Amino acid sequence: MRHDGRKPGGAAAVLLIVDVPESDFRRARWLRAEIERHNHAYYVLDAPLIPDAEFDKLFSELESLERRFPSLVTPDSPTQRVGAAPAPEFRQVDHLSPMLSLGNAFAEGDVVAFDRRVREGLGQDHVEYAVEPKFDGLAVSLAYVDGVFVLGATRGDGYRGEDVTANLRTVRSIPLALQGDHPQGRRVEVRGEVLMFRRDFERLNNVQRAAGEKEFANPRNAAAGSLRQLDPRVTARRPLRFFAYSVSGDEDSGLPETHSGCMERLAQWGFPVSPQRRVVTGAAGLLSYYREIGERRVSLPYDIDGVVYKVNLLADQGRLGFVSRAPRFAVAHKYPGEEAVTEVLDIEVQVGRTGALTPVARLKPVFVGGVTVTNATLHNEDEIRRKDVRIGDFVNVRRAGDVIPEVLGVLRARRSGHERAFVLPSQCPICGSHVVRAADEAVARCSGGLVCPAQRKQALLHFASRRAMDIDGLGDKLVDQLVDAKMVRTPADLLRLREADLAGLERMGERSAKKLVEAIDRSKATTLARFIFALGIRNVGESTSRDLAAHFGSMEALQHASEDELQRVPDVGPAVASSVSAFFCERHNIEVIEQLRDLGVRWGEIAPREHAAGAAERRTFVLTGTLPNITRERAKEMIESAGGRVVGSVSRKTDYVVAGSEPGSKLEKARELGINVIGETELRELVGAFSVREQKS
Ligand code: IVH
Repeated sequence: MRHDGRKPGGAAAVLLIVDVPESDFRRARWLRAEIERHNHAYYVLDAPLIPDAEFDKLFSELESLERRFPSLVTPDSPTQRVGAAPAPEFRQVDHLSPMLSLGNAFAEGDVVAFDRRVREGLGQDHVEYAVEPKFDGLAVSLAYVDGVFVLGATRGDGYRGEDVTANLRTVRSIPLALQGDHPQGRRVEVRGEVLMFRRDFERLNNVQRAAGEKEFANPRNAAAGSLRQLDPRVTARRPLRFFAYSVSGDEDSGLPETHSGCMERLAQWGFPVSPQRRVVTGAAGLLSYYREIGERRVSLPYDIDGVVYKVNLLADQGRLGFVSRAPRFAVAHKYPGEEAVTEVLDIEVQVGRTGALTPVARLKPVFVGGVTVTNATLHNEDEIRRKDVRIGDFVNVRRAGDVIPEVLGVLRARRSGHERAFVLPSQCPICGSHVVRAADEAVARCSGGLVCPAQRKQALLHFASRRAMDIDGLGDKLVDQLVDAKMVRTPADLLRLREADLAGLERMGERSAKKLVEAIDRSKATTLARFIFALGIRNVGESTSRDLAAHFGSMEALQHASEDELQRVPDVGPAVASSVSAFFCERHNIEVIEQLRDLGVRWGEIAPREHAAGAAERRTFVLTGTLPNITRERAKEMIESAGGRVVGSVSRKTDYVVAGSEPGSKLEKARELGINVIGETELRELVGAFSVREQKS
């Protein structure tokens, strides 16, 4: 007997099920659908249709059927929500399109300016916006292939996140299979936020307390801690929820033309979407929505830290596009954070990676905005003068969402007369070098450069950080020891570290030494963009690094570029161009790059973009092996739509071999001929898969 595990007409893989009586097969299928219908009613609609005991009966009936006939277990069976074995670590996965952040608006003026930019960009007098709360949780991306949930990932650095599929399966409000009509044979990606309701959070903390376990500071931390569990059975016991806020898919997946339409579609598919979502027109509409939600905020069952405005028509979103990592078509309008009064115990100076001296207020611990705050930034000297903050003062501190806490002002009436004014030192508190402040800058800097241990430590931490070289296990305590013991001065020294060198250090066992050396060795295979970012050039962030890598294609080309050439890169202005060029004028920087190369650091060089409209244009590609996230067909489509060609065999004329896991002899051939071998990430960089065409928000 043959059954297609899903509904009739589906293009799903046909399963051959032997020895299962037709009636049991049908019963299992009915039970799966029925249980998920009740999950939806309970967790999404908040309107249960049957008592819990009856639900449990259905569930155990399905369990026993599946035990009797294991071939009845489908990946979207509700019994599969729990029970996956603990993982040793999370696998890293590339996002199909990047998970970007949103620009922030704080004041009404910011919102008016946003609407003006949008109207000017589109050449329209009135623009329609889809508006919704900004959930204070963690972003995740859920992939459905042929209607079945196959992969769930955290946001990570926006381009690559962690595979938390097994954990997300345990979240009852995430449908394991899309309900109703959905695109057959297609992949759709649903994005949204995982969070915890306040009442569930309180209950969880009670349970934790009773069990003598750690309590969570706020619902957001509790949600994050619960999702990032290596054992999905722990996650399953945590009351996590999900709200969807965007969907994208292959071009022919038939998604609606507006964001609000997409939200309706998501609701039909069984996803929770915010009941507070609306469509409004113009800045006035945005602002009145902000006020309305601001008033209702406390009565929502979960925390929000603002509202989000998105241009409703997806085609218009595409026309507006992105700047850097944020879309021009959307903005987050934040609510002011919570405030509290506390005492300034001291004012200390921190020295950053670029030598910037930041005065930081050490505060008497105070609970505000869901966490205990002990430090607040005072930004710079002028800011301290303006607010007249003194040591011993009582101050108002504010903490909003994920932003660093700040001192709002001083309660002058509470002064005793013993307060002490703060003076910015004229010498670096760490290395004693002169502190300089350029006439047109608010920031004072230590002039010690890499002679200053503080700057050196920060530079090394930056080099090793997740978004740069991604050396796992190299934290600040370790860098402190390595620098203080003069074992490490430059990033090249870092890469030279062997197990024997690490042996004598505090808190460094054999196992962690081995792991660190492995992480160091793994980090050597990187991308040009990450490498440029890792260098820590002033004014060159992650997104500029990507732009520079895509434009110049190689370290040599970048190193020799003049300031004029640098300014031809989109979004690169005189300040960035001048810091890049100053960086490469320093002999010691070039030396470090050369040493890193000699130590085996490899960054896939990519074809420069300036010669053609796209780096993939008129190039020949060969595909081999399985790519982590995209099918061969999709890869081919991506290459072809960027003007490239895909051929079957490797020859001298091949420009790139795109290799996935289990590659064939084509990879060997490519190596023999010295042809560029790239992975999925580089392929995306090459074909500009990050373009707006793929983004439907
Ligand atoms: S839309 C291209 N809508 O805010 C823009 N984001 O700063 C895609 N967030 O990490 C984001 N609620 O996880 C969008 N209703 C909402 C949201 C929302 C919360 C989070 C999101 C992202 C961050 C952006």
